[in-house]
Amino acid sequence: MSDLVIVSDDGPIRTVRMNRPDKKNALTVPMYEAMAAAIDSAAGAADLRCIVIAGVPGAFCAGNDLQDFLHAVAHAEGLSAPLLRFLHVLARNEKPLVAAVSGLAVGIGTTMLLHCDHVVAGTDALFSTPFVHLGLVPEAASSLLAPQRLGHARAFSLLAMGRPLDAAEARACGIVNTVVAPAEVEAEAKKAALQIASLPAKALAVTRRLLRGPPDDVIARIDQEAELFKAQLGSPEARAAFEAFLGRKK
Ligand code: COA
Repeated sequence: MSDLVIVSDDGPIRTVRMNRPDKKNALTVPMYEAMAAAIDSAAGAADLRCIVIAGVPGAFCAGNDLQDFLHAVAHAEGLSAPLLRFLHVLARNEKPLVAAVSGLAVGIGTTMLLHCDHVVAGTDALFSTPFVHLGLVPEAASSLLAPQRLGHARAFSLLAMGRPLDAAEARACGIVNTVVAPAEVEAEAKKAALQIASLPAKALAVTRRLLRGPPDDVIARIDQEAELFKAQLGSPEARAAFEAFLGRKK
């Protein structure tokens, strides 16, 4: 694997960094594979107490690679197996997840945050889910988790209307815990991760499980959305939207 995802362990903290700055961290199949493996393999490492998901300055993640979506359209496929595995791993993962969001968080860049336990954002963060604009539907169980977290009105604005949230709005909505200057995002996330890692392990694990409940409904919604997503991927409206983006003149 290349260095498109960098996994590094430092004491009790594992950092999983999306690292494709030239494409604003748009996620490809190998990146999903690497991220799923990094989160899943932490389960068996008792010394790892917290996982930080990070991006690069100015780009947490620009969502799924639209070229990959076009490839899926051409082959009458849906969300790739590695993407689905990543989502299932997120839902089943039992290690506390902290996100360090600097800059753009588009599509899955925003919906993966609904699986995190603590989110630090830079003042430059912008959260958006343009699924419907792309002729698509929400994924990552966001159609279940966003209304629970934000309430229907704000979830509709974000997921259906595609209206972005800035960092302050995302904090007001309950997606983000802390907003700091962009240069301080990583340090603040690390601080929170170390704080989490220092808590009594068993009590924390039980508390997290109680707060989240069993993952069954989330997994079922991930799979239901994936079916609907596949149907929409093959729609003329989705194809037109991807081609328009990839063929745009700058
Ligand atoms: N898939 C594939 N390529 C992407 C991408 C994506 N999701 N997001 C960005 N890129 C690429 C651009 O095509 C561009 O590549 P190029 O330099 O080879 O032309 C590069 O990343 C930089 O993006 P650019 O658009 O120039 O940066 P920007 O700062 O002006 O805008 C975004 C950033 C994220 C707002 C814009 O790229 C965008 O809207 N991307 C699509 C996001 C999206 O719809 N994701 C899917 C959600 S389901």
